[in-house]
Amino acid sequence: MADKQADLEVGGETYHFPTLEGTVGPDVIDIRKLYGSTGRFTYDPGYKSTASCESALTYIDGDEGVLLHRGYPIGQLAEHSSFMEVSYLLLNGELPSKEELDDFTQTITYHTMIHDQMRQFYQGFRRDAHPMAIMCGVVGALSAFYHDSTDISDPEQRKIASHRLLAKMPTIAAMAYKYSVGQPFLYPDNSLSYTGNFLRMTFGVPAEEYEVVPAVEKAMDRIFILHADHEQNASTSTVRLAGSSGANPFACISAGIACLWGPAHGGANEAALNMLREIGTPDRIPHYIERAKDKNDPFRLMGFGHRVYKNYDPRATVMQKTVREVFDALKVSDPVFETALQLEEMALKDDYFVEKKLFPNVDFYSGVILSAIGFPTTMFTALFALARTVGWVAQWNEMISDPDQVIGRPRQLYTGPTERDYVPIDQR
Ligand code: CMC
Repeated sequence: MADKQADLEVGGETYHFPTLEGTVGPDVIDIRKLYGSTGRFTYDPGYKSTASCESALTYIDGDEGVLLHRGYPIGQLAEHSSFMEVSYLLLNGELPSKEELDDFTQTITYHTMIHDQMRQFYQGFRRDAHPMAIMCGVVGALSAFYHDSTDISDPEQRKIASHRLLAKMPTIAAMAYKYSVGQPFLYPDNSLSYTGNFLRMTFGVPAEEYEVVPAVEKAMDRIFILHADHEQNASTSTVRLAGSSGANPFACISAGIACLWGPAHGGANEAALNMLREIGTPDRIPHYIERAKDKNDPFRLMGFGHRVYKNYDPRATVMQKTVREVFDALKVSDPVFETALQLEEMALKDDYFVEKKLFPNVDFYSGVILSAIGFPTTMFTALFALARTVGWVAQWNEMISDPDQVIGRPRQLYTGPTERDYVPIDQR
């Protein structure tokens, strides 16, 4: 930590605040004593200039388009690693040895089943329920089924809860899908990989043998890697904030799922594909670009722009490549991919997008791949939630393990009425 300081002049007085230095990235000004010394708060709606915590998990340089997990570039992890290995890395800080990875994979594999009574829980949802609605409910309900891993002060219970969440998420997501299409649930098959098992539970039916297509399994695994963690985004901050009060991990992850659902966050992959399908053919692209630029039109190019990336999202690069691999493996093509490529090309040449540094993000191409694999759009955000669970639990664990952790409690700039007397209803 550096002992550089920042000076702030308020009402003619100068106050000194220490600045803290991370291993890489901008220094931060430590203003924890600001209110005590100046009687002022900072004002930063949307946290555009606020570091909410210290973290050693993920680093993003948005100007350069860099994303590192525990120091490893996302492109290298997507190319050479597996989702299980990246999960181990995020949870434990280092890449595993072969033995460590085998042990970890075995542990996760043997926790994939959910309590059988939870099957009945699903029946309470309308049969056309959105999978994300089911996920919010079912994941929160895990806390009612696994009481032996909700004592957050016990590191062993935290570890078990983390493993349970990571392991059961594919089962829960696949069951949400099965329920929504009226097909019977499939139990996990421990002989398959994490990703292969998820594909089988989603697309398999009891009457037939399901064959996992290796190229699809690899693409899906890579999609999980690309979504595994992303620093202090809205849903991760939600998980941290929920966890800071001491809430149990299942409830916290359920809160994260709810936040992820929004179209400005995880819901953008569903919105992006719907938008591409609505555009339909490349000749209609200019009309939609004009709409996106029109301040009086709420329409935005979904899958474009990012709070942190002011350059190409490195995950979008891998996604675009993966589309081609999946199309080749499944011998399919979808005109929507051509529309996406042309939309990207035209937007990146347009002054509006250039000046505002709006580039494709992870969600721009993911929907095209997921749709080719066979997922309905309503499942896209559920898949994002499945993959992000490891990031959420790793961030939650990091926070709870910190001895200086306190409840998250922002303040505000109050603009409501000042104190006034209650008026009885007959006098109003
Ligand atoms: N299309 C058209 N204009 C846009 C877009 C877009 N997709 N994104 C931002 N802008 C404009 C925006 O109108 C604003 O213009 P002005 O300065 O004239 O008011 C400027 O760019 C800055 O936008 P902002 O909304 O202030 O930026 P933000 O950091 O608050 O929002 C964002 C980031 C991701 C919410 C936004 O870019 C957006 O809504 N994108 C579409 C939704 C999307 O793809 N979300 C997925 C994000 S990546 C995956 C994830 O994290 O979940």
